Amino acid sequence: MDTFHIHGPCRLQGSVRIAGAKNAALPALAASLLVDDTLLLRKVPPVRDIATMRRLLANLGVVSQDTEDGVELSPNHELGREGLHQDEAHYDLVKTMRASVLVLGPLLARRGHARVSLPGGCAIGVRPIEQHLAGLRALGAQVELSGGYVDTRAERLAGARFRFSKATVGGTENLLMAASLAKGETVLENCAREPEVVDLAHLLCRMGAQIEGAGEATIHIEGTEDLHSADHSVISDRIEAGTYLIAAALTGGDVRVENVQPGHLEALLEKLEETGSMVDIGSDWVRLQRNGELRARDVVTAPYPGFPTDLQAQYLALMTQAEGPATVCESVFENRFQHVPELARMGARIEIDGNYARVPGPTALSGAHVMATDLRASACLVLAGLVAEGRTVVHRIYHLDRGYEEMELKLQKLGARVERIST
Ligand code: EPZ
Repeated sequence: MDTFHIHGPCRLQGSVRIAGAKNAALPALAASLLVDDTLLLRKVPPVRDIATMRRLLANLGVVSQDTEDGVELSPNHELGREGLHQDEAHYDLVKTMRASVLVLGPLLARRGHARVSLPGGCAIGVRPIEQHLAGLRALGAQVELSGGYVDTRAERLAGARFRFSKATVGGTENLLMAASLAKGETVLENCAREPEVVDLAHLLCRMGAQIEGAGEATIHIEGTEDLHSADHSVISDRIEAGTYLIAAALTGGDVRVENVQPGHLEALLEKLEETGSMVDIGSDWVRLQRNGELRARDVVTAPYPGFPTDLQAQYLALMTQAEGPATVCESVFENRFQHVPELARMGARIEIDGNYARVPGPTALSGAHVMATDLRASACLVLAGLVAEGRTVVHRIYHLDRGYEEMELKLQKLGARVERIST
């Protein structure tokens, strides 16, 4: 298993190019199940979760090829006219990646039947999918749970009005895809407003769907009989961009992140300015410099446009070095402080009180062996290693590879001493 060896402290300097967004590419790939045609997706990041989704799609009869323009997806016609030969997403694949549940809506809408292994809990929370299922039921699907699988059936889904009891990114995406092929109009209320949801709606509209209101709490979808091929570039990864911007603030550096949509980073940029960094914004870049004091500021994570939960761990690492007390409240997931005991191994002082992490003040960090527990926790530990005295060894880097493209190379380009050691 690979580890990262990080020699700190360092000051990051230079520019880094941000990849396409994992959390936009995953539903976009699943949308290929909606068509008996080719889909070209550009800027799909070469990270492990994408490979998992492509393997799942191959099992469901969609082949994907890397071309110079991007990832080309098409039905596997060797398996008969429609290509799709299977409507079951097996436990073996789903257990490795929760986002596999995103095949449920499109598969059911297209095939009339979908059987998907229940994702189960993960390191950051129980993460139920009852809103996904309630939405599909509202569109007329029969939904049964048995043997660890959800089994859904509908000759053709029918448009309906459905209100999510909680804004859910995956639930909104599943229902958007399902409703695109339903009969009649669907109105979804209390939807997630994340940029990745909007990007999926843009793709579906390119495929011929009729969707209005993506990015707002209420979305209208007029179902159509068929969808068609499309060519779509996924948006850039605001979480990857945010990770490098926080790393720049943490190391007192000067970093420009390129190929980003600055508007997607508003909540973070506001907070980084409050904590003492200088931020310049261009059309597709953001430059952050911090020379002076790093000030402590509280933060509460929230659905978009609030402060992203996927940057909470990285921000907590920043607060361990800030002057003054800071409180970080995690309001989206119930168990997303697994990085705290590992930061404590490096010398950080953080008190956990339910979904609050309180940092009484700055402490010097020293290099240590630490263990990654999930994707964003691993990014947090890498960032802490950049300012710790001596060598930090981050174990289970496979978590990081799920969502970050070549992080060690990008950090090396910014002047960090980071090595990947493969054993
Ligand atoms: C997406 O997960 C992202 N994953 C997550 O990023 C991200 O943390 C999350 O949205 C929130 O922004 C992908 O896009 C692949 P939710 P998702 O449904 O869709 C509860 C990363 O690091 N809930 O919006 O699973 C749920 O338990 C990952 O890249 C229900 O209670 O998130 C959570 O507390 C981690 N019932 C909250 O809602 C449901 O039916 C938000 O979850 C669905 C969700």
